[in-house]
Amino acid sequence: MDWGMKNRLSRIIKPETGKTVMLAVDHGYFLGPVTNLENPRKTIEPLMDYADALMLTRGVLRTSVDASSPVPIVLRVSGGNSIIGKDLSNEGITVAIKDAVRLNAAAVALSIYVGGVSEHQTLMNLSKLVDDGEEYGIPVMAVTAVGKELEKRDAKYLSLACRIAAELGAHFVKTYYCEDFERIVRSCPVPLVIAGGPKLNTELDALNIAYDAIRLGAAGVDMGRNIWQSPAPIAMIKAIRAIVHENATAKEAYKLFEETKNKKG
Ligand code: 5RP
Repeated sequence: MDWGMKNRLSRIIKPETGKTVMLAVDHGYFLGPVTNLENPRKTIEPLMDYADALMLTRGVLRTSVDASSPVPIVLRVSGGNSIIGKDLSNEGITVAIKDAVRLNAAAVALSIYVGGVSEHQTLMNLSKLVDDGEEYGIPVMAVTAVGKELEKRDAKYLSLACRIAAELGAHFVKTYYCEDFERIVRSCPVPLVIAGGPKLNTELDALNIAYDAIRLGAAGVDMGRNIWQSPAPIAMIKAIRAIVHENATAKEAYKLFEETKNKKG
């Protein structure tokens, strides 16, 4: 791996722990104004100090994040679909690699829909993006998207999707936690981060997922709704950090969540 690529990756996956807490706020690219992300700046600003990287679109980056921010950007560069459209998997590359360079992106992110109607197109998107990323030294994160027609979140399906992403050259992969998660880790030769998925009933549920994923070999989280849809988002991201970077158990992290929340975290 070239120096620039390594340098960018090390800004995201922290060399001190080999892990990362990425904050995902890219949901609007196909979901529109999701609950608690209606005003992106209002959601993002209080959490910035606790995020190792911020995953978002160029529109939200340019309008809602100060250019003086030191937090590395993982730029979503796929889209062209919507939750009410006919084929959720019908995504293309929406950002030229030169604009990613202009925006000083530390990495670019794109969804693949393995098993989806537009599977081939999204895998070719990934391959093209890896070519561009290699040329400019920008790492590519593949997101193993599960659409409305693809409710599969099992190890058999996700290990297939993650492995294909790695085979096509993704430098790291974002997937979901599921039973038998170690099977996904074992068969994927690049680092894996997990999404949180839709808001779970309790904060402890989300902390349990993060803890289990880290214990079984994930390189971190790229979490959104389970942080900023929590009534105490700062307390939640701090608790996640304790699991990812400080080896806290889910129970210890939950205690930290409660303590921080009560101090108005
Ligand atoms: C959508 C995404 C989101 O960033 C991802 O789902 C992470 O957010 P959450 O933790 O809310 O699921 O990549 O394709």
